[in-house]
Amino acid sequence: MPVSRRGFLRGSLDTRSGAFIAARGLEAHFADAAQGDGARALVPAGVNEIRLSSNENPLGPGKAVLDAILMKFPEAGRYPFNSTPNETALVAAIAGKFAVKPENIVVGAGSQEILKCAVRAFTTPERGLVTGSPSFENCPRIARRLEHPITEITVDSKFRLDIEPMIAASKGAGLVFLNNPNNPTATVLGAGAVTDFVTRVRAASPDTVILIDEAYHDYVTDPSYRSAVPLALETPNVFVSRTFSKAYGMAGMRVGYAIGHADTLKALARLKMPYNVSVFGIAAAMAALNDPAHIDAERARNTAVRAFAVKALEDLGCKSSASQANFLFTDVGRPAKEFRDACAKQGVVVGRDFPPFEKTHVRISVGTMDEMQKAVAVFRSVLRPATTSLDGRRQEESWR
Ligand SMILES: Cc1ncc(COP(=O)(O)O)c(C=O)c1O
Repeated sequence: MPVSRRGFLRGSLDTRSGAFIAARGLEAHFADAAQGDGARALVPAGVNEIRLSSNENPLGPGKAVLDAILMKFPEAGRYPFNSTPNETALVAAIAGKFAVKPENIVVGAGSQEILKCAVRAFTTPERGLVTGSPSFENCPRIARRLEHPITEITVDSKFRLDIEPMIAASKGAGLVFLNNPNNPTATVLGAGAVTDFVTRVRAASPDTVILIDEAYHDYVTDPSYRSAVPLALETPNVFVSRTFSKAYGMAGMRVGYAIGHADTLKALARLKMPYNVSVFGIAAAMAALNDPAHIDAERARNTAVRAFAVKALEDLGCKSSASQANFLFTDVGRPAKEFRDACAKQGVVVGRDFPPFEKTHVRISVGTMDEMQKAVAVFRSVLRPATTSLDGRRQEESWR
């Protein structure tokens, strides 16, 4: 009996989903070397790398999403507007999640496309970008390429975005980038602080656009935090960006979106690439939206592993900022490069340098519990080499 391509895929979903999950570690061999500042080249051959450098969900997407991706192979030859579902359906599904209209949503090839369009749309040589330091580098990188002015405000003593000087700097700016929780410092601003920020920037500088990046929204457990989406929907010149790359585990699918006032988003929609989200990305994102239990489970898993890692590092004398994300920003008391290279030699790759704290702090993504237990043994051997080198050697041998 002939087997259709669709039937073949359907019959193979379980094994293929399993193979996809099993192949997860191989992403390391193809990823952007800049993410680990070259440290990944130091991982010895034959050692299974533990990748704690890119704030990805270490388990990837759930089975519903993997199955949705696999089911789309027969439509790989179609443009996204000819596929079922298409981009219009994805926009409607995201709009449905927030009970808003489709014109309140713009989808991007990852939220980076949204950030890039925002800098292009809202900054000029006269009206620059205001951002935290350190914060996610994408917006200043684009502004730098455009030669638009950038004002970077160093985080406060608790590694939170420093609201007062950011408000002052925002007067006359084209765009303010407020990353909440903030990458790489992992701290969060409470709902009151964000509302106060928006109100005061709007009062002093009504033409300034405020972009609130909530890439790590799904990992927050602090009760003082609330999404700024409702605020954005009722306030002109304010919008929120979100991504499927983090808790949804879909970094490779490249799907993100902006949500806000239709008038504000028109400027982004004009600049985005046509058909920017693929047939696979559309199907995957829609399946993910239909599976909220997966996000709840991922948040709970991350919270438990995050608490373990914070405590283990504290026991090693290394304090982390108050993390509300899937990564830690930790004082290792030495240059990040020194720590990163030493860890990489034992198979653990942590984040790149984050000036102005590159002499003391590293960003460590939260992996699985198993990965973090192994990573902590490596951290111990790097931070306390004299007492634990034998343990470290044994540990390394046991991973081969
Ligand atoms: C704060 C923040 N915003 C946006 C992004 C971009 O994510 P993506 O383009 O995968 O949606 C990242 C990625 O690390 C991030 O940390």
